[in-house]
Amino acid sequence: MRNMDDFSGSDGRALSVDYHFRKMSEQDLADVLAIERKSYEFPWSEKIFQDCLRVNYHCYVIESVQQVKGYAVMTVAAGESHILNICVDESLRGFGIGRSMLAHLVDHARNHRAEMMLLEVRASNKVAIDLYFSSDFNEIGRRNGYYPLKNGREDALILGRIL
Ligand SMILES: CC(C)(COP(=O)(O)OP(=O)(O)OC[C@H]1O[C@@H](n2cnc3c(N)ncnc32)[C@H](O)[C@@H]1OP(=O)(O)O)[C@@H](O)C(=O)NCCC(=O)NCCS
Repeated sequence: MRNMDDFSGSDGRALSVDYHFRKMSEQDLADVLAIERKSYEFPWSEKIFQDCLRVNYHCYVIESVQQVKGYAVMTVAAGESHILNICVDESLRGFGIGRSMLAHLVDHARNHRAEMMLLEVRASNKVAIDLYFSSDFNEIGRRNGYYPLKNGREDALILGRIL
């Protein structure tokens, strides 16, 4: 899938972004890990990404001007898809790329006959929750203390949508 769009960021900046999604490979892991470590307080390790690739999870990168600018990891099995990670590099956030990646995952999951999409998100992650709620996800549960914090634990919201 190829996109060539003019985006306007929430602060009014105009940005012309040429990007596309492609499958992630081992060669992408250094770039993926650099974004992962900047984006999360408790980032995934290289081994986790390697395992996702090894077991053939659906792993994509967002590439812009031949640079990895984000990624997503999803499982699809037995009619159910589960987004395990979706991340856009800080420099390109707020321009519609995360929403576009989510739509790409929805299409891909449907093509693999998934009927349901699930994910967990930190209860404090307002940006991501807004993205999901405006993309037909609903809260279907909560896992108390699921995520670590520097000082304690934080709940996960379990969100789901029919495909
Ligand atoms: C969540 C994330 C993937 C969104 O990617 P993005 O490319 O910035 O998102 P988009 O530009 O497509 O915006 C989609 C929606 O997110 C919300 N959003 C995006 N930026 C926002 C901001 N700065 N403030 C508030 N809401 C924001 C809005 O609801 C937006 O929809 P709108 O533009 O129609 O108002 C990105 O912020 C990210 O990588 N965050 C760090 C990793 C993470 O938390 N991943 C989710 C784990 S569950």
